[in-house]
Amino acid sequence: MVSCFPLQRHRRKRATPWIRDLFAEHFINPSQFIAPIFVSEVPHDGGLDLDIFPGLRRYMIEDLPALCEQLQSFGIKAIMLFPVISEDKKDEIGTEALNPESLIYKAVRKIKEQNYQLSIMSDVALDPYTSHGHDGVIGALHTKVQDVDNTETVKILSSMALLLAEAGADFVCPSDMMDGRILDIRNDLETHGYTQTLIASYAVKYASSFYQPFRNALGSKGLKALNDKKTYQMDYRNSTEALSECMFDEAEGADCLIIKPGLMNLDIVSKVKEKTSLPIISYHVSGEYVMQKLSAYHGYLDDKQSTFEIMHSFIRAGCSNVITYSAIDICKYLKNE
Ligand code: PBG
Repeated sequence: MVSCFPLQRHRRKRATPWIRDLFAEHFINPSQFIAPIFVSEVPHDGGLDLDIFPGLRRYMIEDLPALCEQLQSFGIKAIMLFPVISEDKKDEIGTEALNPESLIYKAVRKIKEQNYQLSIMSDVALDPYTSHGHDGVIGALHTKVQDVDNTETVKILSSMALLLAEAGADFVCPSDMMDGRILDIRNDLETHGYTQTLIASYAVKYASSFYQPFRNALGSKGLKALNDKKTYQMDYRNSTEALSECMFDEAEGADCLIIKPGLMNLDIVSKVKEKTSLPIISYHVSGEYVMQKLSAYHGYLDDKQSTFEIMHSFIRAGCSNVITYSAIDICKYLKNE
């Protein structure tokens, strides 16, 4: 069975661009990429903010239609919206998350009015709304240790998911890592007739330092009350637990599974791929994006080549989609090829 050199020569199949194209196994195209969009109501936002991360733009609601036109013309099929609300609206329990007139619901309705061929995805978690920056409400649990309260948080998140569905979101995306939230959200959606709303669950979300630029973009001024998110987000030393998280979320009614950070956890993607038939989406998170983009800005890397290499690695690992701040750049590069 072993056929080896010189009967076999690998380089024969690499000799010209067209032979390489002939045997290429994986490809990228705009429909695989989901563009994260920050929508802000903070007056001085609404432009490029290079201090936070290269290429970061926070859009005002009125800029969304033009942006969606552009994304649609590029062939993008989905956007992921994140609200940046003014500091004075944040409180301990994230009250603004359940105000149907708050920014995110207005933004979803504004986009939905236009009938774009774009799916609207929205994060379901309390961190854009809480003064302490955590994804849920903090309570003294039975242990008397201050921590994010699972039961109370899930109740709020389910109501939030319902409000999003009502506003017209196509996907609700719980990113909070509470236990049992997918089941609760799915039941609530069913009971209220939102049987076509998809749940993209952040099933595997590691407690990671690579979310820092994102948190800065939301205006979270450091976490308060608890130092980190390690009592709810996963420990990056673990992988079997990631499989269990995915199996639970699938059984509880998730339509697709998000794994993040993406690039650092491609081993998890390929392991999960063997165990599920659900689509797997990687989130190429802000810190990962910044590493590559800043290197390219300073001339240490070629932007197009390094971006393409990273995106192919996601697809090769088994992702059907990638949420990435590079989505627009990828489409521009693909168009000019
Ligand atoms: C919030 C949320 C985070 C990200 C997406 N949704 C941050 C966090 O959990 O602290 C990070 C995305 C990124 O870094 O690009 N629930």
